[in-house]
Amino acid sequence: MSSALLIRNLSQIATPIGRAGVRGVEMRRIAVLEKSVIVVRDGRIDYVGPERRTDFPITEDFDARRATAIPGFVDSHTHLPWAGFRESEFNRRLQGESYEQIAASGGGIASTVRATRAATGQQLVDNVLQRARMMARHGTTTAEAKSGYGLNLADEIKQLRAIRDADEQSPVRLVPTCLAAHDFPPEGRDPSFVAQIVDEILPAVAKEKLAQFCDAFVERGVFTREQGERVLRAGLALGLRPRLHADEFSDSGGAALAVAVGAASADHLMHISEKGIAALAKSNTVANLLPATSFFLMSQRYAPARALIDAGAIVSLSTDCNPGSSMTESMSMVMQLATLQMQMTVEESLTAGTLNGAASLGLAHETGSIEAGKRADIALIDAPNYLHLVYHFGVNLVRDVFRDGVHL
Ligand code: NIG
Ligand code: FE
Repeated sequence: MSSALLIRNLSQIATPIGRAGVRGVEMRRIAVLEKSVIVVRDGRIDYVGPERRTDFPITEDFDARRATAIPGFVDSHTHLPWAGFRESEFNRRLQGESYEQIAASGGGIASTVRATRAATGQQLVDNVLQRARMMARHGTTTAEAKSGYGLNLADEIKQLRAIRDADEQSPVRLVPTCLAAHDFPPEGRDPSFVAQIVDEILPAVAKEKLAQFCDAFVERGVFTREQGERVLRAGLALGLRPRLHADEFSDSGGAALAVAVGAASADHLMHISEKGIAALAKSNTVANLLPATSFFLMSQRYAPARALIDAGAIVSLSTDCNPGSSMTESMSMVMQLATLQMQMTVEESLTAGTLNGAASLGLAHETGSIEAGKRADIALIDAPNYLHLVYHFGVNLVRDVFRDGVHL
């Protein structure tokens, strides 16, 4: 017999609408329903609207106790399989050292690479699961997860296998990305590493079907535009769609490169140029903004979210969860920063944290909104309406989470 779940006694349902990413002024047009229920059948949303009789039996009745339903968050930029926290570096930053200074002195990404290489595959699986459970408690139902702390064949593969194995038990649906081009390996900043990524690492990853996306960090002192393009085009030829860490600490022409290679997303964009904004606005590449990174790095510089939305770009929001520049799993924290520091509206940031994130993962037809036909990925927040997601800040309002209709 098929299962049918009725979620009733909701204060409100607030959701973007669509099966593709939405851009510009459309981002603030969310649907807000009162006096409505959600019917879930076999893991998918069957019906959203005023209560009425179904022509099939309801097998489970869920009393939402006046909660507000929103789509489960889609966190489309995270770094999950790593070992070793960096709280002492964080403390050094609080004393005045910069992120880039710490990286230059052997810390930063290199210190996580050392700890991740030393970890077993099972330890990485456990770490991914722990972070995924924290994400689910904060309302996330889908998360992209990147490698990039192995920086050699064996350890990049180990990280991606950890994502694959964790996904079997994870409350959050995981979408894997190979970020072998995160940095040069700590044993030497040899440009031949680019050839190793292209000739050895990406083909092995594609052969074992360990990633859907390929990412690179184009930045001064890391990979040049040309090196980034070479990696992304090699990934593309193997069936891995590009994403790009672009214009994070300097304008490196990353946004334009992302558009040129047809990337699913261009991420960070704190230093994007006017030209970069115009290029993204005309494209289907999602501008993925990560304000928790600016916040955590104590930078006054946030990505120009208003200019991007007003120009007509598809904007999404993500945590960038990682031990160095953004140690959080909370998408509502990211929404709070997006509204209070980047002048996005609450409606825009809800769309950005759900449907548009799903679009950048190629999943907008499956998740990211509460609409009939989509997977039942739903978060219930302890609030009379969706504005409380930002208004009632600094606490976790998420009370119940459903993924594929299963109560987590
Ligand atoms: O997305 N930008 C590059 N990589 C990460 C930071 C990684 C780290 O510090 O460990 C980021 O911010
Ligand atoms: Fe990142």
